[in-house]
Amino acid sequence: MQLADRAFRLGTETAFEVLAKAKKLEAQGKHIVHLEIGEPDFITPKNICEAAIKSIQNGDTHYTPSAGIFELRQVIADYVSKTRELKFEADNIVVTPGAKPIMFFLILALVERGDEVIYPNPGFPIYESMINFVGGTAVPLHLKEEDNFNVDIREFERLVTNKTKLVIINTPGNPTGKTIPKNVIEAIAEVLRDKDTYILSDEIYSRIVYDAVPFSIAKIPGFKERTIILDGFSKTYAMTGWRAGYGVMNGELSPVITKLMVNSNSCTNAFVQKACIEALSGPQNEVEKMVTEFRKRRDVIIEGLNSIKGFSCITPDGAFYAFPNISKTGYKSKELANKLLNEAGVATLSGTSFGKFGEGYLRFSYANSVENIKQAIEKIKQTIN
Ligand SMILES: Cc1ncc(COP(=O)(O)O)c(C=O)c1O
Repeated sequence: MQLADRAFRLGTETAFEVLAKAKKLEAQGKHIVHLEIGEPDFITPKNICEAAIKSIQNGDTHYTPSAGIFELRQVIADYVSKTRELKFEADNIVVTPGAKPIMFFLILALVERGDEVIYPNPGFPIYESMINFVGGTAVPLHLKEEDNFNVDIREFERLVTNKTKLVIINTPGNPTGKTIPKNVIEAIAEVLRDKDTYILSDEIYSRIVYDAVPFSIAKIPGFKERTIILDGFSKTYAMTGWRAGYGVMNGELSPVITKLMVNSNSCTNAFVQKACIEALSGPQNEVEKMVTEFRKRRDVIIEGLNSIKGFSCITPDGAFYAFPNISKTGYKSKELANKLLNEAGVATLSGTSFGKFGEGYLRFSYANSVENIKQAIEKIKQTIN
């Protein structure tokens, strides 16, 4: 089979592969604690489920406009305007099946062969995959533990050139769970101020924060027009399987991203969109409950990880990931992740699933019960201590 060259440049998200491996082990009778996949274990709030059921019964089972139902785009525009203290209109919003297509479409629409894209490493693996896929030059921005996994502004400045078309930031970040402080965002903006560079601000975890207040770069004067905010429903409302997300962008870009929707999905599922209206305009107490529970789990897992010989883990302030340094165990990341899956029955991800600078780390998703987290820590101790 003669595949196009670009097919060989596609990366992947290892979480899905590890999940499949873990499920296979479970089918063979092995007990596995799942700390690999990045999705809330909570059931989608009842009011959202009921809105979807009602919507199906009302016959919302047909195509919708490609950019999304106007009412949903308006609700999203109001929500983003309120949370980011900026003014957006429905025309600034494109609804997509999950938030992931926003990164795909944006990179397709913006990046020419040879254009440079700066992206966080360790970071969400699809950024690098998509940059390579379209023939762009992927420029990793090393997030270092000694900087609290924050952007080293001097290094960032060195990486920016006249060819930098796009900078991707992710706050709170996957896999580090760290939020970029306002002063660092301001410093990033200062470096980019006179450049012809766009920013993809991946804010999918903006509602899952503990001690930090996330700050959007779009809020900095002059940056609203060149920032594309990515956000969605998957993480905040425990709706990963529904596939609903959106991008917030200037009025010149939104028709192009909409055309990519026309060319790919036609539209996002009609009754899911109706449920999303309920998600944003209905009561928010379920979200608060989930975040409170995540905070409890974070405290348990960080204490537990730090009690394992050879592990050390800084405290994340957002998302639901812990990213411990495991280099003192003497194992390479992938080797240890495999060992923990096969011998301890604990599914985690190698830090290298998030780029080359993830070597020496593992990623744990603590979207699992306190009981299971404690059990996983004990099993790891028995396996490697
Ligand atoms: C940083 C980041 N951005 C975007 C996404 C995609 O979210 P969705 O499931 O809505 O496509 C994820 C999912 O894991 C993520 O971790």
